[in-house]
Amino acid sequence: MPTTSPAHTADLVVFGGTGDLSMRKLLPALYHSDRDGRLSPETRVIAMSRGGLTDADFRGKVDAEVRDRVPVDDPAVWQRFLGRLRHVSVDVGGADASGWEALARLLAEDEQRDRVYYLASPPRTFGPFCRELREAGLVTPRSRVVLEKPLGHDLPSAQRINDEVGAIFDEHQIFRIDHYLGKETVQNLLVLRFANAFLEPIWNSLWIDHVQITAAETVGTPGRRGYYDHAGALRDMVQNHLLQLLTLTAMEPPARNDREAIRDEKVKVLQALRPIAGTEVERFTVRGQYTEADGMPGYLDEPASTPPTEASRRVETFTAIRAEIKNWRWAGVPFYLRTGKRMPYRRSEIVVQFKDVPHSIFPGGGPNRLVLRLQPEEGIELHIMAKEPGAGEVTLKPVPLSLNFGTTFTARVPEAYERLLTDVLAGNPTLFMRRDEVEAAWRWIDPILSAWESSSDLPEPYPAGTTGPAGAHELLGRSGRAWHEEEEEL
Ligand code: BG6
Repeated sequence: MPTTSPAHTADLVVFGGTGDLSMRKLLPALYHSDRDGRLSPETRVIAMSRGGLTDADFRGKVDAEVRDRVPVDDPAVWQRFLGRLRHVSVDVGGADASGWEALARLLAEDEQRDRVYYLASPPRTFGPFCRELREAGLVTPRSRVVLEKPLGHDLPSAQRINDEVGAIFDEHQIFRIDHYLGKETVQNLLVLRFANAFLEPIWNSLWIDHVQITAAETVGTPGRRGYYDHAGALRDMVQNHLLQLLTLTAMEPPARNDREAIRDEKVKVLQALRPIAGTEVERFTVRGQYTEADGMPGYLDEPASTPPTEASRRVETFTAIRAEIKNWRWAGVPFYLRTGKRMPYRRSEIVVQFKDVPHSIFPGGGPNRLVLRLQPEEGIELHIMAKEPGAGEVTLKPVPLSLNFGTTFTARVPEAYERLLTDVLAGNPTLFMRRDEVEAAWRWIDPILSAWESSSDLPEPYPAGTTGPAGAHELLGRSGRAWHEEEEEL
């Protein structure tokens, strides 16, 4: 677990500062940090947008839209938070430079502060924004830039963005965000693995049968077609969130708890992924798209500002992949990745299934499982076999040894963005993706994308509210395995 140094005084400049991400995630997270005393008293949050708002307008908007989302137990703390907020209107890519000049004047009030430029805007704006910042003389050695996902839509576009941003900021100043890395269980995975002695000897292909990594969501994509038609589940969730979970599960123990040691080990995992390309893609991957069911619209009928196109018909809202890591520890252990919209439950988890006992002396029973749950209830469960109480024959039953963070610890479990913003402000990049990590992930994803794009097949339909298309069950079923929740129901 990375450590976070005390709060520096910073100006946090958010591009897209009045947008959805800012209002739903960033500002609530910053308020929590302020309330918990983790923001230096002088730190300011400067929203940049085209909106033409004054500081007072912006504070009014935050008061109206954010206050209800956060616990305001002390109105003075809320007022203090509002007092940190500024707004600067900017004419992105236009001829009017007055916005950049206004930002420069604001930042010049204290040249000694750290400057954090948070680009919560589409990736095509990353390069231009960075260039504008440099031209306005706003990039100092104490500046950092935060890039929101998606970082490109394939390897060449990611490399282009990395080159453009890299021409202005050094790699150590670039923070590529993947909010899954800020989730409490994800950080706990490192502690579980590397601060406890009992797991490491069995964390390998001798003892582990397979691993399942699932991010299931009940939400659909209303209002998001413009983005989602060109993203799909593979780009939206697998290239980043699921592969990050895979790296942390599979990485070798780093020599030190520091930014480069941890990221060095993660990138090695990505580089060891066996490529899935050409005709193998059909065998090892599944794509699905939800259709209307139980009063829920299908993907093509979701409300959107434009009618569905051919791209909409071809986009996957569900995918499952059988991945393999070609190294000494993991050879022969499948890693099943799965994510989907409009599934019956919201659940993100990593399930490590151990091998069965070599020789069973009891009827029934089954393999042990370690379940690391990211959401809805963050916690860790070890499913072990126990004897059901009774005087008759021995009957086995899997029961969980359970650690629920919410009930075990009294401290509030922070939101992912809270942790990540704290780290950005403190200059700690451990939980952010390095350039080589992002590119290694795209290098593995690209052949799957191109096989899907050149195929005439459409994604398999699955009714909204179900666990995905039949192909997802066959993917495991053909080696005699099943998804965790199916086994639970047996
Ligand atoms: C985002 C994706 O990165 O993660 C969304 O763009 C997805 O499509 C979201 O809904 C899921 O995040 P969480 O934290 O709710 O699992």
